[in-house]
Amino acid sequence: MASKLLKRTFHISTWSACPPRSARSLIAVAPSRFFSDSNSQPVPATAGSSPLPPGPPTTPNDAPSPSSVSRYGSKRKSESTHSSVKDPELAKFAAISDTWWDSEGPFKPLHLMNPTRLAFIRSTLCRHFGKDPYSVRPFEGLKIIDVGCGGGILSEPLARMGAAVTGIDAVDKNIKIARVHADLDPVTSNIEYSCMTAEKLVEEEREFDAVIALEVIEHVANPSEFCKSLSALTIAGGATVVSTINRSMRAYATAIVAAEYILHWLPKGTHQWSSFLTPEELVLIFNRASLSVKEMAGFVYNPLTGRWSLSDDISVNFIAFGTKDVQ
Ligand SMILES: C[S@@+](CC[C@H](N)C(=O)[O-])C[C@H]1O[C@@H](n2cnc3c(N)ncnc32)[C@H](O)[C@@H]1O
Repeated sequence: MASKLLKRTFHISTWSACPPRSARSLIAVAPSRFFSDSNSQPVPATAGSSPLPPGPPTTPNDAPSPSSVSRYGSKRKSESTHSSVKDPELAKFAAISDTWWDSEGPFKPLHLMNPTRLAFIRSTLCRHFGKDPYSVRPFEGLKIIDVGCGGGILSEPLARMGAAVTGIDAVDKNIKIARVHADLDPVTSNIEYSCMTAEKLVEEEREFDAVIALEVIEHVANPSEFCKSLSALTIAGGATVVSTINRSMRAYATAIVAAEYILHWLPKGTHQWSSFLTPEELVLIFNRASLSVKEMAGFVYNPLTGRWSLSDDISVNFIAFGTKDVQ
């Protein structure tokens, strides 16, 4: 029944890659860690010395990960029990933070995807907020937060489209790079960057018209709690946009084996297959956070043109647009 409802509400979606199932069976197949209220997570797989990337053959387990303990060995004091932070994930991004604006470096795929994901964001937000998508600054008057902004490659075009942008990231080096780069242009220099987590900003009772977290949820400790924080940052009736990678065999073959081990687009170990979410899981996680998914689309890569485009194929990379329920 839930999937029938979802099919009705999505503008762009084929569920051929993930056949519709009943709400009950959706919950049954989703690993409990996605919905648990605890911080327990699978032990992060590392590239290690094995020539094979960790993937589908490895069953995720619920053992507490070292990430609930800080790098210095003690439990984080200032963070709530629902910290979204996974230290090993942050270490990976800190190690390559100086390459954010190298369009041929490890973030090349994100640079290439940017126009496509911005097209989705532009069309969904403009439709939702009654803005003109053909205007030069369609997001004028909107407060948008880019959660897990990295070096700011999404925050900057959002600011150029007229939004008042806040960018947060848990890695301080990323925020420093983002700040320096944004200051190069007066239009982006007013982006408010801060080294911060979503849950911390919730404590400060900040709210935004639109909350965007692209390619972040697969790197956090508890996707369900993370989405609750995104929801808490969204005004009632506002919008939340999340993109991630589907936990499908195709994603294992392309986003991990090909991208990391064959083409070397990304450093080995960037992604763990077990941390990916299926579109159905993301919809359920959104629902539990009082967010209703209204549109979903896939991103597909054309190796001949080297370009990404929007598609109804959500079997690998996909993006979801949801709205915050008005209580
Ligand atoms: C794959 S990058 C995506 C960057 C950016 N959203 C984009 O798509 O261009 C993931 C980013 O999320 C950040 N991150 C990971 N866990 C986080 C957390 N719990 N809170 C905030 N940022 C986090 C990382 O530091 C990294 O910059």
